[in-house]
Amino acid sequence: MGSGREALRGVDFVVEPGEFEAIMGPSGSGKSTLLHILGGLDDISEGEVSLAGHRLAQMEDKELTLLRRRQVGVVFW
Ligand SMILES: Nc1ncnc2c1ncn2[C@@H]1O[C@H](COP(=O)(O)OP(=O)(O)OP(=O)(O)O)[C@@H](O)[C@H]1O
Ligand SMILES: [Mg+2]
Repeated sequence: MGSGREALRGVDFVVEPGEFEAIMGPSGSGKSTLLHILGGLDDISEGEVSLAGHRLAQMEDKELTLLRRRQVGVVFW
């Protein structure tokens, strides 16, 4: 664990292709942080995140950009 605030702890789940999931929790519980991590926009300090078989922590920015383009869609509001 690095210095500073812990934004997520003990998050462990799998979403299979074709599944729909809702992430719910109070303000500040880490929903946006989790989505940024899943989209390869934020780095993790511990643990492991895979998207479509790719381990995000081991990918270069350029590879992440391509993966985002092909696998991730985000609508902000
Ligand atoms: N850029 C940042 N720098 C430092 N701490 C942050 C930053 N963004 C979020 N945090 C902290 O990380 C934790 C999780 O915040 P996050 O924004 O992911 O929660 P959230 O569930 O999306 O909240 P909301 O429902 O208000 O959108 C909170 O403690 C928050 O204060
Ligand atoms: Mg949020």
